[in-house]
Amino acid sequence: MPDQIRLLVVEDVPQVAQYIRGLLNSQTAIKLLDVVSDGTRVLNLVSEMRPDVVLVDALLQGRMKGMSLVAQIAQSGLRVPVIVLTVPQHPVQVDPFNGVHGVLAMPFTGYELVQRIQQTTQVSQDTDERGTARMITVFAPKGGVGKTTLAFNLAVAIGQRGVRTCLIDGSLQFGDLRALLKVPGEAPSLLDLPTDRIQESDLADVLWRDPSGIDILLAPPRVELAEMVTVRDLEKSLSLLRRVYGMVIVDTPAVVNDVNLAFLDESDTILEVVTYDSTTIHSTMVMADAFRMIGYPPTKVRYLVNRSDSTGGLDPELLNKALGRAPEHQVSSGGALVVRANNEGIPFVLADPSAQISQDVTRTAGELLAATGAVARR
Ligand SMILES: Nc1ncnc2c1ncn2[C@@H]1O[C@H](COP(=O)(O)OP(=O)(O)OP(=O)(O)O)[C@@H](O)[C@H]1O
Ligand SMILES: [Mg+2]
Repeated sequence: MPDQIRLLVVEDVPQVAQYIRGLLNSQTAIKLLDVVSDGTRVLNLVSEMRPDVVLVDALLQGRMKGMSLVAQIAQSGLRVPVIVLTVPQHPVQVDPFNGVHGVLAMPFTGYELVQRIQQTTQVSQDTDERGTARMITVFAPKGGVGKTTLAFNLAVAIGQRGVRTCLIDGSLQFGDLRALLKVPGEAPSLLDLPTDRIQESDLADVLWRDPSGIDILLAPPRVELAEMVTVRDLEKSLSLLRRVYGMVIVDTPAVVNDVNLAFLDESDTILEVVTYDSTTIHSTMVMADAFRMIGYPPTKVRYLVNRSDSTGGLDPELLNKALGRAPEHQVSSGGALVVRANNEGIPFVLADPSAQISQDVTRTAGELLAATGAVARR
């Protein structure tokens, strides 16, 4: 918590502005930077003044209405918490994912005003330290089920929805995404991230900026270098990425080892890929037992059936029985489109958005965003 909280107020009713000034005059915990009545000036003022919190009247009139301004601040990437000032007849819910971090209803006392400002700033600082990104690890205990293909296309589809997305190539030994995207051998990898005092500016030098709009943290370029990635360094990098991005997606190899377990632990959601294939179903059940023993709640895992239209004669009910529930997501077979797009290193969701598989992946992206409550943050 900063010594003095720097507050910017957006209020066009002179009497209310005067009332707030008066309340804040008699205390020192909060420093009132300014009161502005024109909503269109606010984004610029926030960038210039860097307030710790902004108070916006929900009923603000003029060219920029109160709640439009709140939405605009949330989308701006300025990452300043907002308290919405309202009246009981016009209730507003606290909704941090849509930029409402606190609500204050009139009439309020000086004590309530200061309390709300302090509390909102504190909560927002705590979230900032932890990062607000959602993290999804695409995992399967069975190789070749489509993890890399799905992780890449899902990341792009999520990026297309306005969520700033980072994809991590967690297949550390073989760097599946390196191969898929045909990046030059010398392109930096997660081994190039500083392990000490890692900062946001370090990311720019290391991330691969894909033309599809997402950033990719590549795996080391050679098999033997994978061993140099430690769980401790990885956790540091993840916590930084979670502060910078709205969504972090991890592609993994089909193994259970320390690094993969670190990815799974850190994730909000494990997206486990299954297919209608008896050995895959068997490994998935073994894995479900392992997850239970680790103590993951069942809701942490979401199942995605890949190639859901090719059951290979297997009764889909068998899969539901094995999983103990119907899988949450389905993606059909994409045939030649998938092979062609993968060979060219482009996401099929952009190469042919109307194809069934692209629609399936785009729908799944939406379902995952809704399930994880990720925030659009560009
Ligand atoms: N829905 C699909 N339709 C058609 N082809 C697919 C589909 N999903 C994956 N494939 C193909 O299956 C092959 C394996 O996919 P991918 O490399 O994504 O699997 P993986 O699970 O990452 O494998 P690994 O365990 O080796 O990392 C690829 O050739 C890919 O093009
Ligand atoms: Mg792979």
